[in-house]
Amino acid sequence: MPHIVIADKEFQLYLSAEKIQHQVESIAYRMNRELKGHNVIFIGVLNGAFMFAADLLKRIHLEAQISFMKVSSYCGTSSGIQVKRLIGLNEDLKGKTVVILEDIIDTGKTIEDILFQIKGFRPTEVQIATLLLKKEAYKSNINIDYTGFEIPDRFVVGYGLDYMGYGRNLRNIYMLEEVHS
Ligand code: IMP
Ligand code: MG
Repeated sequence: MPHIVIADKEFQLYLSAEKIQHQVESIAYRMNRELKGHNVIFIGVLNGAFMFAADLLKRIHLEAQISFMKVSSYCGTSSGIQVKRLIGLNEDLKGKTVVILEDIIDTGKTIEDILFQIKGFRPTEVQIATLLLKKEAYKSNINIDYTGFEIPDRFVVGYGLDYMGYGRNLRNIYMLEEVHS
């Protein structure tokens, strides 16, 4: 479907399921080579990354652990800085290569909070994989190790990403239509 409606908004087809699968496959191919011999734990960030994680991990042939976590929507304050808390992470990360799986990185604030807290668990190394990166909006200097697509600073939905909680189950990724008035 080239055009969909969710609640009050119209979206146009942006990335087809075929294109997405092709990129996911090439990320998996790189990981299978580059992470060989590492003691890997993949950590998917819920809810958005569930579909990317499932498709990617089916193509990973490494012996690796897999876990998921959530980032709290409310912000706690520590030393005056607002930090989103990680929820549901019970694994021992010491001596592991952690690979964080994200659906989308926008300004980079969320991934900064995640990285800061993951590093507190003393893993050997942390790598970041994101399906989508809004390059123009990205303000962090954290290196993203694996990126599926660099996309414009526009709202997208589908393949795990939601608008008001809807659209996560779509196979394609759709972009919000610009409103011309
Ligand atoms: P950041 O902290 O600005 O990098 O924002 C990252 C988070 O914002 C993602 O994990 C998503 O939950 C949400 N987000 C950013 N852009 C979009 C979008 O285009 N569609 C859906 N969610 C988005
Ligand atoms: Mg996310």
